[in-house]
Amino acid sequence: MATNSLVCVNDYEEQALSLLDKRVRDYYSCGADDGQTLSDNVADFRRLRLRPRMMVDVSNINMKTTLLGQEVAFPVCVAPTGIQKLAHPDGELATARASASLGTCMCLSTGSTVSLGELAENLPELLLWFQLYVCKDRDLTRQLVKQAERAGCKALVVTVDRPEQGTRRTSITNKFSLPLHLSFKNLDSLKSPLQSSQNNKYAVLHTMFDNTLTWEDIQWLTTITNLPVIAKGVLTGVDAVKALESGCKAIYVSNHGGRQLDGVCSTISVLSEVVKAVNGRAEVYLDGGVRTGTDVLKALALGARAVFVGRPPLYGLAVAGEEGARNVLTILRNELKLAMQLSGVTDVQSVSRDLVTYRASL
Ligand code: FNR
Repeated sequence: MATNSLVCVNDYEEQALSLLDKRVRDYYSCGADDGQTLSDNVADFRRLRLRPRMMVDVSNINMKTTLLGQEVAFPVCVAPTGIQKLAHPDGELATARASASLGTCMCLSTGSTVSLGELAENLPELLLWFQLYVCKDRDLTRQLVKQAERAGCKALVVTVDRPEQGTRRTSITNKFSLPLHLSFKNLDSLKSPLQSSQNNKYAVLHTMFDNTLTWEDIQWLTTITNLPVIAKGVLTGVDAVKALESGCKAIYVSNHGGRQLDGVCSTISVLSEVVKAVNGRAEVYLDGGVRTGTDVLKALALGARAVFVGRPPLYGLAVAGEEGARNVLTILRNELKLAMQLSGVTDVQSVSRDLVTYRASL
């Protein structure tokens, strides 16, 4: 569809939600339980206010940065979200093409409908990370890690906030399942319970994940791979320190887009605590509720090295495939650049904490 009239992420969201069928729309947009954390993620960015500096030469803006030593053109990357072929037949391949063409990083989900191998073959230039759910079957886990290594991934993002699946009420009422024409491509060639199940592979996949995980298992993970391990789903300073002590090379602040424990703090509101605990020992990333360039700038000011977006590229994908995903990322990049210029900030790597304040009560 024509995308000229869609000028911000919210336009893409609105358009996508009107196009998708109910089951997919609900799967992408829902949060856990009452959706309190889902809405706080967005609302809390809006409680922060910017304190721009004037009269700064902003003719040259540096948006480039590095993530664990790998360059990205701007600090907005694609968070891992499963089953992207529900949004568009090209699924994760289209999102990956959009990410590669803009020079940013994409993190592929364990639950993807395109394989690591297919992305690596088509897009050798893409900065690709793999999101890992540790499976009860450690041999299977090991094989997933090897696939990520073979595909040239530059990091393993281990999700630590899913000992069990949060309650997504619409998934229950819609009886959400993986359509029969799709499969979890990274697991297709591996021996797992998925192979013997015809129906509801979505539910079967979730039974394969391990709810006994502790930080010791993260330590184990660091011994079976040379890839840097990143803990995704950290919400407290204490856990950030645990993750570092377990060998993680970066901390990814996330509440799974409000889809796990409802009632946890928004990610932007806990970022400072995590950054303080990490104390410069590792890079800190954030996702959850980032919808505008000013949101990105606020997260950078509070100490994030980069942010990730989950739903926004899905909405772009649903509206116009690769082009839509690219447009959404381009909007965020351009909005960030303008927000920097209007704030008197010239480099994404040195955004001052002073740039943000909480909304003053009048
Ligand atoms: C997710 N998320 C997620 N996280 C993860 O570690 N593995 C996964 O497979 C998925 N799958 C997934 C599917 C869908 C439809 C959504 C919306 C989210 C969470 C995701 O990585 C990220 O943390 C949030 O989406 C970030 O919040 P925003 O940007 O959507 O507000």
